[in-house]
Amino acid sequence: MNYEAAALDFTDKPRAYAELARQLEGLLSGEHQRVANAANMVALLYQALPDINWIGCYFLEDGELIVGPFQGKPACVRIALGRGVCGTAAARRETVVVPDVHAFAGHIVCDADSRSEIVVPLISDGKLLGVLDVDSPQLARFDSDDRIGIERLAALYIASLEE
Ligand code: SME
Repeated sequence: MNYEAAALDFTDKPRAYAELARQLEGLLSGEHQRVANAANMVALLYQALPDINWIGCYFLEDGELIVGPFQGKPACVRIALGRGVCGTAAARRETVVVPDVHAFAGHIVCDADSRSEIVVPLISDGKLLGVLDVDSPQLARFDSDDRIGIERLAALYIASLEE
């Protein structure tokens, strides 16, 4: 397996995300297992996305979010719905972009280096499976191109489970 994600040029974000989506589709194709595909997705994105310090999935289990595959420093294991950025995105079932985590009431600190964050809910057939969380040490790291790009990648992951 040879994915040259590190070579992507994010000065043109839509183009880089389109290429990353193509790579993710290839990486996940033929496999449907939830944890395996999440593990490969976050490994690929951790290599490819510039200026991030943590990326991972939390899965909904018995009404709370439990950490799944991730890259970065060890993380908090359980997050209640409605708590932190992850729990907020899960409860609202919509992407939450936080330009400055210090200004988000209730932000849960896992890695003190994190300054901005995006959390995309993982929804399959109307059912919440969990969230994809990406953290950056840069303030306001995630703009609307990142939101669109990361939502598309999350959708490809969801699709891979259903095929
Ligand atoms: N910051 C997140 C918690 C998860 S970690 O960043 C890995 C939150 O507030 O939900």
